[in-house]
Amino acid sequence: MCYHSALMMAVDRIEELREEALSAVASVGSTSDLESVRVRYLGWNNCSAELTEIKKGIRDLSPEERREVGGAANKATKEIETALAERREESVAVAEREKRLSSEAVDVTLPGVPYPKGSLHPSLRVIDEVVDFFVGLGYRVAEGPEVETDYYNFTALNIPPGHPARGMQDTFFLDEGLVLRTHTSPVQIRTMLSQEPPVYVVCPGRTYRRDSDPTHTPMFNQIEGLAVDKGLTLGHLKGTLAAMARHVFGEDVSLRLRPSYFQFTEPSVEMDVSCFVCGGSDPNCKVCRGAGWIEMGGAGMVDPAVLEEVDYDPEEYTGFAFGFGPDRMAMVKYGVPDLRLFFEGDLRFLQQF
Ligand code: DAH
Repeated sequence: MCYHSALMMAVDRIEELREEALSAVASVGSTSDLESVRVRYLGWNNCSAELTEIKKGIRDLSPEERREVGGAANKATKEIETALAERREESVAVAEREKRLSSEAVDVTLPGVPYPKGSLHPSLRVIDEVVDFFVGLGYRVAEGPEVETDYYNFTALNIPPGHPARGMQDTFFLDEGLVLRTHTSPVQIRTMLSQEPPVYVVCPGRTYRRDSDPTHTPMFNQIEGLAVDKGLTLGHLKGTLAAMARHVFGEDVSLRLRPSYFQFTEPSVEMDVSCFVCGGSDPNCKVCRGAGWIEMGGAGMVDPAVLEEVDYDPEEYTGFAFGFGPDRMAMVKYGVPDLRLFFEGDLRFLQQF
């Protein structure tokens, strides 16, 4: 074998070993296999590998040969070591990930931690039913501020300063002509001032009076309604409210209007719904107390003085308005004896609905 081809064979063999080693490193499946690949190609202690043998033989070569064979052998060794190190790091990362996955494993089949479940407040249920009913008729929902000016709460509703009707409202007065609104009726005025007729609005909201006993709380809810159009009559008012009562209390109830008085309606009425439990047949009925009727609130035809206040022409337009208490309605509907229970925030009470 000539000298030149012996050299070439050594270099070729190194190249072969390098390729073999690299592909072995790439294909091993475990760290222990990785270790045997290392031993096979780079040797370990007394256990020699072909590549190390080649390196050992280098000292017998001529200086030029040494450079060539030595260079190739070193390069191959380095590449194999690098590949081994990379795979080792990779396997450490994989092991770490697996350890984390198993330590953080969540058993999705375990039952979860139950969240306490809320429920709709009984007043809110009635408000929703009433509002849904009116929205179904084409009414719009309107709202106003709970801190109201004296003007909207009283004066514009035909209750001028000094009028005795003001004294009946047990008002919470704030600074400088401001009050906590005593009813949702000021929303009527705000609505009419903000648009031209026809008006069809329903206005739910919180209202306040200095009052506290089993059937009165300082804060309570009201639902106001207002319709202003050409040719509206008390008949429209009665038909509308009777349909609403049937929607909330059931198909069998009927509506009764009694003459009453409010500053902002003329004529004014008080509206009662026939008892949805006994229909008037049980003198010991817990809901109507034998009366056969349940009081719902006030209503009437909008007083022309109120229409004039908002620049609506009372010769052209008439309107009806109503206001009732959804808390009271919820009390009778769900048989709750004390209104104060509604606002104590006791979950045991609220969760019954
Ligand atoms: N605002 C009245 C009150 O709280 C209730 C009321 C009566 C409202 C007649 C109305 C109405 O819209 O027409 O006592």
